[in-house]
Amino acid sequence: GTNQSGGGRFNEPTDAFVARFTASVDFDQRLAFHDIQGSIAHATMLARVGVLSEAERDAIVQGLTEIAGEIERGEFQWSVALEDVHMNIEARLTDKIGITGKKLHAYRRSRNDQVATDIRLFLRDEIDRVAAELARLRRGLIELADREADTIMPGFTHLQTAQPVTFGHHLLAWHEMLARDHERLLDCRRRLNVMPLGAAALAGTTYPIDRHVTAELLGFARPAENSLDAVSDRDFAIEFTAFASLLLMHLSRMSEELVLWTSAQFDFIDLPDRFCTGSSIMPQKKNPDVPELVRGKTGRVYGHLMGLLTLMKSQPLAYNKDNQEDKEPLFDAVDTVKDCLKAFADMVPAIEPKKPQMAEAARRGFSTATDLADYLVRRGVAFRDAHEIVGLSVAYGIRESKDLSEMSLEELQQFSDVIEGDVFEVLTLEGSVAARNHIGGTAPDQVRAAAQRARDALAAM
Ligand code: ARG
Repeated sequence: GTNQSGGGRFNEPTDAFVARFTASVDFDQRLAFHDIQGSIAHATMLARVGVLSEAERDAIVQGLTEIAGEIERGEFQWSVALEDVHMNIEARLTDKIGITGKKLHAYRRSRNDQVATDIRLFLRDEIDRVAAELARLRRGLIELADREADTIMPGFTHLQTAQPVTFGHHLLAWHEMLARDHERLLDCRRRLNVMPLGAAALAGTTYPIDRHVTAELLGFARPAENSLDAVSDRDFAIEFTAFASLLLMHLSRMSEELVLWTSAQFDFIDLPDRFCTGSSIMPQKKNPDVPELVRGKTGRVYGHLMGLLTLMKSQPLAYNKDNQEDKEPLFDAVDTVKDCLKAFADMVPAIEPKKPQMAEAARRGFSTATDLADYLVRRGVAFRDAHEIVGLSVAYGIRESKDLSEMSLEELQQFSDVIEGDVFEVLTLEGSVAARNHIGGTAPDQVRAAAQRARDALAAM
């Protein structure tokens, strides 16, 4: 804090610039309600073990509750001279209830275990919100995939047409990515959910506290095992930001596909107008701003991950002021993830596939060439020879501007006499996707079954 009084061990007040430079209240006031929640639990525990009287506890709880009201109504006077959210609230409590307010802080607890607790409480709540939004997005994807289980589009490798797939299958690939992200998020929550309070500045406290009581009051699984570790590490914030980076990486890949698919050259889908904007200069334009922005915002979240990793890497035990720098990147990562998830959860159910265009694109790129090779192999042709025969057929198709399925039986038989009329069953797009009929394959029935498993797995989380 600042030493305006010059009292104690200081001979002069803090330099005005230094006071501003070291203050965090402009951004850490976002932790106010969790700070109050932690203080109320701490006072409740202190009364339970007999360190505070019930009257003192009641005065503290009452005072803190009023302060929460003042903050909510925007009446609270935040002071940069009081450095951070913790000292602002402590000073206001002492204003209100006098010496009893100071007692709460005497029997702790330093700002070190306080801030370590506040961030965990804050992040735990935010994780629950993020998880709910992620679940909403997953549900939307699963239902769209189920609806589009029969819709055929080209599948790509190297962004070149490879084999036909169903649109539902493609969407469930997205869903798998998000299901793993969801697990990572819940895993992060489990690990952060231990309570630093009681670690005090670094070594623990001489007061007869009961950390199990406080942990239970705050919904933590247990008190943190080691006081030095509890006040100093921010690995849970890094872990969340790593989760966020992976999630955004996935959303960015999806965004990229949405941007491609809405282009006139692909023309696979329509995004409703409410997710797009026009151009001020080109009247024909309808730009996919929402996916573009999600793709762009991925960069800042990666930046926060690298920032937090670097923030921690050289810190000796235990608390160092460096850690005050954990909040802005974490807050921004939380906000960015929530906004991007909301955008996607709103947008995905509104994707309108253009089925004729998708099927036409799948037909154009000789996407059933592999099916023809498989057909030949089933008729006893060696794979090497089959590969060659199909290659010659495709070259002919390119010359004649004909897909394999558009060639006559006679045309196909120029390349191999084992080809018969039943070849057209495998050369159609429907035949091609239906033939990949095993778990994890693109056949429509498999997509419907996978959608049901995805629904069940989500419901069980
Ligand atoms: N504002 C500080 C932070 O964000 C709170 C802890 C400060 N503790 C201290 N001893 N300076 O980390």
